[in-house]
Amino acid sequence: MTKGYASELREGDGDFESSRVLDNAGSDDERVVEAALRPRRLAEFPGQPRVRDQLDLVLQAAKGRGAAPDHILLSGPPGLGKTTLAMIVAAELERPIRVTSGPAIQHAGDLAAVLSSLDEGEVLFLDEIHRMARAAEEMLYLAMEDFRVDVIVGKGPGATAIPLELPPFTVVGATTRDGLLPAPLRDRFGFTGRLDFYDPADLALILRRSASLLGVEIDHDAVVEIAGRSRGTPRIANRLLRRVRDWAQIHGDGRIDHAAAAAALELFDVDPVGLDRLDRAVLEALCRKYAGGPVGITTLAVAVGEEPDTVETVAEPYLVRQGFLERTPRGRLARPAAWAHLGLTPPASSTAQAMLPMEEPTPGRFAP
Ligand SMILES: Nc1ncnc2c1ncn2[C@@H]1O[C@H](COP(=O)(O)OP(=O)(O)OP(=O)(O)O)[C@@H](O)[C@H]1O
Ligand SMILES: [Mg+2]
Repeated sequence: MTKGYASELREGDGDFESSRVLDNAGSDDERVVEAALRPRRLAEFPGQPRVRDQLDLVLQAAKGRGAAPDHILLSGPPGLGKTTLAMIVAAELERPIRVTSGPAIQHAGDLAAVLSSLDEGEVLFLDEIHRMARAAEEMLYLAMEDFRVDVIVGKGPGATAIPLELPPFTVVGATTRDGLLPAPLRDRFGFTGRLDFYDPADLALILRRSASLLGVEIDHDAVVEIAGRSRGTPRIANRLLRRVRDWAQIHGDGRIDHAAAAAALELFDVDPVGLDRLDRAVLEALCRKYAGGPVGITTLAVAVGEEPDTVETVAEPYLVRQGFLERTPRGRLARPAAWAHLGLTPPASSTAQAMLPMEEPTPGRFAP
């Protein structure tokens, strides 16, 4: 049993402890398990056909020219394969990769140290690039464009900038929030791959591959069941697979069939469309407390006892994508599917609300 499993059961404020099983952010312990399940080459990377084809072209062309490819930005929600693709870029180019992240670069000097030690053709992976310090961002523009950094020597009025030439290298940036990237930085990336949620068929491929790497037998129906509840996210699919494996090991002979998958997922409060307790609490609060909205994200977060950021990044993207919830300038709005999923009847005015186009002013209702 991994430590991640224990913390999934323990962590949190008590209310949503089991929601950890669907949280698409990976814990530190989990990252170790994940590393073992990462596809290593583009050809073994299921899903995201568009990004994969585009990336393949960019990398093959650069390799053919014997030059470093354009800088690459990978964006999309957590757990969809940004880090995996960054590793793949280096593997396909047959180049070493240097890994760092926005939060680790708090001063321009931190970045200068990394940049000045890069070898020719090396891949520099900057995870969570939107969280890098401002001063470092500016240094990065220059380095990405001109392969040059100004190293500041000395302090105060006597400080001088010594330009340092850098060998050509490729930045692979990853971000869950590309809206937060300043335009000049975004423009320095010659290629942006936008990762989207996976469809169930691709998740099924991923699950089969992971099951075989973990050495567990799984039947077709179980794969379909887990894929359908994985919120379009490989990280979640792999995590659910491990919980189902635990269940089958304790309650059966270790083989995963449909009954084992369904029982384990019920134990972890993952419903048939992949909603967990946090998602359902958000929908319940929205429909029951606020008559379907519109309601502000902060108010909604307080109602479910979570941080607004958690509701926004963990629960909402999937609820929006599944057509349960709509983000409008006036606040969050329940869609008809939300009422239906909870088995509730929408009040007449709320149905009308949900049908209105986003820009339409709504007399008598105010955004909180
Ligand atoms: N296409 C895929 N095929 C197989 N496994 C995948 C795929 N994409 C992601 N995974 C698996 O999902 C897990 C998470 O992937 P990864 O770490 O690349 O996500 P990420 O986008 O970097 O997430 P974060 O934003 O949290 O850093 C890994 O275990 C990886 O093996
Ligand atoms: Mg990552």
